[in-house]
Formats: sequence, structure tokens, C-alpha cells
Amino acid sequence: MIRINENFSKLVASYLFVDIARRVTAFQQAHPEMSVIRLGIGDVTEPLPPACIEAFHNAVDEMAQRDTFRGYGPEQGYAFLREAIAKHDYAARGCKVEPDEIFISDGSKCDSGNVQEIFATDVSIAIPDPVYPVYVDTNVMAGRTGVATEGRYANVTYLESTAANGYVPALPAQPVDLIYLCFPNNPTGATATKEQLRTWVDYAREHRALILFDAAYEAFIRDPELPRSIYEIEGAREVAIEFRSFSKTAGFTGTRCAWAVVPKSLKAFDSQGGEHPVHAMWNRRHSTKFNGVSYPVQRAAAAVYTAAGQKQVRGLTDFYLENARLIRGAMENLGLTCVGGDNAPYIWIHTGRDSWEYFDLLLTKAGVVCTPGAGFGRCGEGYIRLSAFNSRSKVEEAMDRLQSVLR
Ligand SMILES: Cc1ncc(COP(=O)(O)O)c(C=O)c1O
Repeated sequence: MIRINENFSKLVASYLFVDIARRVTAFQQAHPEMSVIRLGIGDVTEPLPPACIEAFHNAVDEMAQRDTFRGYGPEQGYAFLREAIAKHDYAARGCKVEPDEIFISDGSKCDSGNVQEIFATDVSIAIPDPVYPVYVDTNVMAGRTGVATEGRYANVTYLESTAANGYVPALPAQPVDLIYLCFPNNPTGATATKEQLRTWVDYAREHRALILFDAAYEAFIRDPELPRSIYEIEGAREVAIEFRSFSKTAGFTGTRCAWAVVPKSLKAFDSQGGEHPVHAMWNRRHSTKFNGVSYPVQRAAAAVYTAAGQKQVRGLTDFYLENARLIRGAMENLGLTCVGGDNAPYIWIHTGRDSWEYFDLLLTKAGVVCTPGAGFGRCGEGYIRLSAFNSRSKVEEAMDRLQSVLR
């Protein structure tokens, strides 16, 4: 008899964005006359930078010729991309990351979801609340949690991120083994200073814990004092894996390219306390289950690091940050307290009301789609997230509509 993985039955409700899509579709069917503006899901709207397009086209042409055609590439990614990342994203910021510590993948969603399988099922996990839901759900699927009551799973240490702590969680009261951190944060847009990250790195070193640092929104950081990589913190190479993505940096959400950094100095332990290099384990996992990102996509990603590419991606992220400024300004004008939007493409808005009810209010009165804060965790109740990923005209129209219905 074929049996199911019963851990899946513990998952509460459907995936957040599936729920949103269902409500939006129902609204559109009932009101076909109303145009809906989506400031909910964090998907980019602007086309790929021209430098990426050119490299993409050239690589497709190479695939069309017998002499330059390529079949399977290295599972870990082509050296040209890994070297460019090591040089521009790490060495240029004083971080020691070798090209062979970089694993190219088709997304940070997969990386952050897959990585947990190399750790024991009974490690204790600490996950921010609110945060990107993939971290919790993949641990539920793996059987690392108990069942949920009132939206919280047993055996998860929730790292509460609230107005009181500036949306940067404090260290947990009880020891934990696997710690997820996400800065700039989705959904709050909050960032962590070097001192704050240092506290976590020191904690992980002291407790032989491991940090999974998701920096998918690093390219939106404008404050020069803020760290862009966890490896800017001394000692992080011994305790942290970092995830980065071209999705939001360069508009690759539909093109798919990202990477994980697994330093060779990172160790995890067996039940006898024996040390194991995590790099070797991830290499084994990655090359067994993944056959590499396509060559044209990796060429397009490498073009981000050309002089033209750098200028263009800066222009793209500046464009979304200007949207974020407009959104935050408009919501603050309405008397709502907001965070984020300055070093992140998300604005986290305190409404003080049930977040799905507020979602329905914005949808039905203004045709504007937000993301209800509760979808990111219990601490998101009373908040909504607005995303800066849309065209300028749609953002302006959405803000006009909200100003008239919420005043
Ligand atoms: C925090 C965070 N990590 C990872 C991802 C997914 O990135 P990718 O498109 O590389 O899978 C997202 C996407 O919204 C995200 O918000």
C-alpha cells in the first residue's frame, strides 16, 4: 500500500499566495469592470536589464551551433559565474568566499527549502515570525515540527520580530541548532546592523548552531553602514550558509538563477559529536538531485557583473525603491505607521485590524491587492505588506485609490 508522508497533513491552510490568488480571482469574476492592482506577491514587473538580454541571446546562439553547443554543465554552476560572484559580491566587500564555495541554483526558494534535509530531523529550529513561509513549511514537511495550534507549530522556536524590538528578533531563551535569518526581511523590510548580526554569529559559535542567512533582497540596501552579507561578520564562515538570488536584483523571477554559499570551514556534527564539513554534504546533495542551471541563464546572470549590467541593476532597484518611497509616504499620510521600503522593496504597515479583513477591504473597495501580515506568522496579525514591485503608474494609481477609500 502506498502511504503518504503524514507530515504534510500537519500543514495549516494552503500556501499564502494560493489563498490570495483564490480571493482575487473570485473578486475579479464578481467584478469584471474593476481593474485590480497587485501590490501583493513580490514578483518583479520590469524587463531584464539589456546587458542580461544581450548575453542571454548570445548564449542561445552558441547553443545553436555544433562547435559551441553545451550539454550538461557542472551541477554547481559554471566557473565564469561563480568567479564573478566571488569577486564582485564578496571580495569587493572584504569577504572571503571562494568560487567553489558558491553553488549556483535555480532559486533561493529551492535552496532555502532543500537545505534542511542535510540536517538531523530532531535538530531544534528557530524561525523568525513574521517571515517568508517556506522556512516553516519545509520543516513541517520534513517532520521536524509537531502539529499546529492557533497557527504555531510545536517544536519551533519562533523568533518574534515586533515594533518593540525594531523587527530584529532577540536571541532565543532556549538553545536552538538551526537558525533562519532573513535580512532585508520579507515581509517587514527591516534590516539588521553588523552588531545585531554579530550577536547571532557569536550565539551560533557558542552553541555549535548553524545560521541560514537569506539575503535575497541584499541589492536594495542603500545604507552604507548595513552589512550586505553575513560574511562581513567575523566568524560567520564557521557557522553560516548564505542564500542570494538574481530574482529581485536583476528581474530573474521568471528566468531563475540564485546561489548558496557554503564555506568549507562550516562544520556540523554527528550524534557522537564528530565533525563533518557541510560543504561536502551540500555538494553531494546538490550534485545528486540537481543538474545545473541552463547555460544561457548563467550567461545572462554573469552579465549583471559587467559595468553596464551593474549600472542597469542599480537602476532597476532604484526604480523599485522609489515606488517604495511613494507607497510608504502615501500610507503614512493616511496616519498609518510603516516600516521598511528604504533598504527593501517591502513596506510593512500597521493597521491594527485583522489582516485578512484588511486585505478584503483593500481588494473590494480599491481593487488593490496587498499581502495580509498574518500569512507570514502570528506576529504579522494587525499588519499588511505592500510590495514596491509594479510599474510607476500602477503604484501611483493604487495610492490614489487607497487615499480616497481609506481617508
Ligand atoms: C526571503 C525570500 N527568499 C527567497 C525568495 C525566493 O527567491 P527565488 O526567486 O530565488 O526562488 C523570496 C521570494 O519572494 C523571498 O522573499
